Amino acid sequence: MDLALPELSLVLLVGPSGSGKSTFARRHFLPTEILSSDTFRAWISDDEADQATTPEAFALLHLVAAKRFAFGRRVVIDATNLDARARQPLLALAKKHFYQPVALVFALPLADCLAQNAGRAERQVPESVIARHCELLEKAVLSLEDEGFRVAQTLRTVADAKAVNIVRTKMPPDHRGDSGPFDIIGDVHGCLDELLLLLYKLGYDIGNGPDGRLSAMARHPQGRRAIFLGDLVDRGPQAPACLRLAINMVRQGHALMVPGNHEDKLERHLRGRKVSMNNGFAATLNQLEAESADFRQDCGDFFSTLPSHLVLDGGKLVVVHAGLQEGMQLRDTGAVKAYAIYGEVTGELDEYGLAVRYNWAKDYRGRAKVVYGHTPVREPEWVNDTICIDTGCVYGGKLTALRYPELELVSVDAAKEYYAAIRPIPGAKA
Ligand code: UTP
Ligand code: MG
Repeated sequence: MDLALPELSLVLLVGPSGSGKSTFARRHFLPTEILSSDTFRAWISDDEADQATTPEAFALLHLVAAKRFAFGRRVVIDATNLDARARQPLLALAKKHFYQPVALVFALPLADCLAQNAGRAERQVPESVIARHCELLEKAVLSLEDEGFRVAQTLRTVADAKAVNIVRTKMPPDHRGDSGPFDIIGDVHGCLDELLLLLYKLGYDIGNGPDGRLSAMARHPQGRRAIFLGDLVDRGPQAPACLRLAINMVRQGHALMVPGNHEDKLERHLRGRKVSMNNGFAATLNQLEAESADFRQDCGDFFSTLPSHLVLDGGKLVVVHAGLQEGMQLRDTGAVKAYAIYGEVTGELDEYGLAVRYNWAKDYRGRAKVVYGHTPVREPEWVNDTICIDTGCVYGGKLTALRYPELELVSVDAAKEYYAAIRPIPGAKA
């Protein structure tokens, strides 16, 4: 029985005393991944059964858990975890560090827990305590999902627990083994002519798509790959053709892509949700009308495969649409996706009535270089190892690529202004 657990998850073992949690943990996880309440009790009082040390033991356990979360390590909590008040601080820490909270429930019959407890050489728990634990477990299973845990598995027999095979799954953004070289391309917004010209300038051979369509594929003779930073669609003239090119390149291994807020919106529309027609979306819808239903379906399927951001080259490079804090890198929660795709706003509106975006790059101190788009600038500029390469092509600026690892900028001027910017692009001449 394979049980997939993402690398960066908080795994809570939930079950009565004697249900086999510690035995299970030892079988499946590294000793350093397991934070056991018994171990922390013993560190304080030399006696793992000394209940008087419980508050201090958990204080230490939470401290170590927080350090491991910050370091991007898995955390397995070996304690009964039957009380919501015991789970709450762990849940809060997981949330703070963008970890997915997962529960493994040991719902063995009381008789089995008692029998296993009776066979223990090291420490036996009074039967009345175990009976009480089984009652608490019934309450816990009803609230775990409401609290925010995903119940990955409920183990009902000793044999169940023995049959589990834990499969560690990589985090979707984890492409650390891939070191390029890459050509990272800023927000295209339907500007197909400029995109093709930029790819040509970067040395790509432009060719036909698998269906024979013209200029629907590009590959680099030396095996370089493009990375699209998102926002291929909306505002500009040829969103579907830009998407088709990107999809073909990604599927044939010539490109990678992260989604922008405009793809996110299109994906929601394709899934039947109601979205507003503003910010150039009406133009994209019109353009998509001329495409087949199969193509629209294909776009939706493609978007659903995209990770919110990519961590590349041994962790030295992060690519993301809107920006990303260091503590969010490699993580995959809803909060991380929202930040990666939409960025962070300050809550204020500017003189044009638009939301003011928080300048996250100004405070970035992370070790990875972060290449992003989303906020048009006249000229890309490195700020604390981050660089925004959205040079507002659709607003009549230019389309820019950053070559990695060379860190050279290559760009193509927009043929015209396709869409009028509501607020002036920073750095623009008055
Ligand atoms: P554990 O000591 O693993 O239970 O197993 P637990 O859930 O962690 O209990 P608490 O909460 O710390 O008190 C209890 C006994 O059952 C045996 C173990 O060797 C141990 O003696 N056991 C457990 C098995 O024999 N087979 C198993 O598959 C699991
Ligand atoms: Mg135990």
